[in-house]
Amino acid sequence: MAEKFVFQNVKACVFDAYGTLFDFNSAVGKHRGRLGAVADQVSALWRTKQLEYTWQRSLMRCYVPFWQVTQDGLDYALDACGVSDRKLRNDLINTYLKLDCYPDVKASLNTLKKRGVQLAILSNGTPAMLEAAVKSSGLKKLIDPLLSVEEVGIYKPDPRVYRLATKRLKLKAKQIVFLSANAWDAVGAANAGLHVAWINRFGQRRERLPSQPDVEIKSLADLPALLGF
Ligand code: LAC
Repeated sequence: MAEKFVFQNVKACVFDAYGTLFDFNSAVGKHRGRLGAVADQVSALWRTKQLEYTWQRSLMRCYVPFWQVTQDGLDYALDACGVSDRKLRNDLINTYLKLDCYPDVKASLNTLKKRGVQLAILSNGTPAMLEAAVKSSGLKKLIDPLLSVEEVGIYKPDPRVYRLATKRLKLKAKQIVFLSANAWDAVGAANAGLHVAWINRFGQRRERLPSQPDVEIKSLADLPALLGF
């Protein structure tokens, strides 16, 4: 599918952050020895609760910044896995500001940048979290702007979040491709009228939700070809 499908006249690629560019499992990965046997369980539950809290808080109209939600998700996960080490908890949350990017990210983004495509992030993350992530992963020079849901005070997949892309980049929807490895996020962006490529790096199933991404690829290495490069 990826070989045949080409987006035309794309001026900007807008990336989801966590799971798409930045490896959220790398936080637990850096403290794996201290967590022992529950390390993978903590990492998976941390991410699950972090996302669930964004959806639940949006429905409850109780927005707090993603930094708070990320801490709440971690505290739930550690509690559920019987980890009460406060120092470890603080080290884990601070590592969320120093995540690695996935191995397919840099080469792909460099190719697009050289071809004159603007690269941006659109994320639940706070501006400070996103700034820290692009610095620690060595992507700072490639990506601008860093768009955060903080501007609208509600989380993805509210359509107002995705509309920030056209509004802030001053481009038409068809000139932008949104990229996410989170299937529900890819669907949310399509629902808001963006062109979407789903980077299915986790081998997820297709979401049974209204709207679908235009195309599915396995890794960001396939992205330049999708733009005809
Ligand atoms: C983000 C989450 C969805 O970066 O990964 O917005």
